[in-house]
Amino acid sequence: MAGRKITIAIDGYSSCGKSTLAKSLAISLDYTYVDTGAMYRAITLFCMRQNLVNNNGVDESRIIEKLNDISLAFIQDPETNTSPIFLNGENVESQIRKMDVSNQVSQISAIREVRKKMVQIQQKMGIAKGVVMEGRDIGTIVFPDAELKLFMTADMETRVKRRYKEMREKKIDVSMDEVRDNVNSRDYEDTHRQESPLIQADDAIVLDNTNLDLEQQLQIALELVEKKIEILG
Ligand code: DC
Repeated sequence: MAGRKITIAIDGYSSCGKSTLAKSLAISLDYTYVDTGAMYRAITLFCMRQNLVNNNGVDESRIIEKLNDISLAFIQDPETNTSPIFLNGENVESQIRKMDVSNQVSQISAIREVRKKMVQIQQKMGIAKGVVMEGRDIGTIVFPDAELKLFMTADMETRVKRRYKEMREKKIDVSMDEVRDNVNSRDYEDTHRQESPLIQADDAIVLDNTNLDLEQQLQIALELVEKKIEILG
């Protein structure tokens, strides 16, 4: 699929396979992959370390003051062919996937100034096109003009089982109930927050992967890309 490069925006609920699809699409198309959830998770880790967020709430004004002290970068590791996220020079990829970060990230990602900073960085990352970016507001706020927008979903139990399996494979000690509570509460927070809530863009194509395997969902997405590029000429 050589030729014109487009912007692909993938949004959807927690744990419905956005990262898996986005990564494999980026490899197939030789595009840049951006996991925007990792960026919100890394800021959350920063805030947790500085005691700016816990189960009782967030210190919003201090977080806003500290935003300029946070630098984020995805740095490619040629050995694993992955691009882990670095927070102020430290590889935090495995730490941000843990349950404690998952439990606080909704509070941080609801802050307007945090989102404003993230969106600016994300827009710069995608300026040259040829990008697959996944998150909650990519097709609505970050790239409202993206040529292809996918809105991913899957039924709750399928999502919970997938996330549980993924966390156990990473040796994270967690129960199925904890995963279910977290996925449920993040869905609620993501769709009900005031700032850029998760909503399906009017021109997004819904991809329900409850009954699809990885190869099938990749094929569907690749066909959509091909069609889009053909239409654009
Ligand atoms: O994709 P993820 O589950 O790793 O994202 C972690 C959290 O970050 C998610 O619960 C909501 C937030 N997020 C967001 O608000 N906007 C994005 N574009 C991506 C993630």
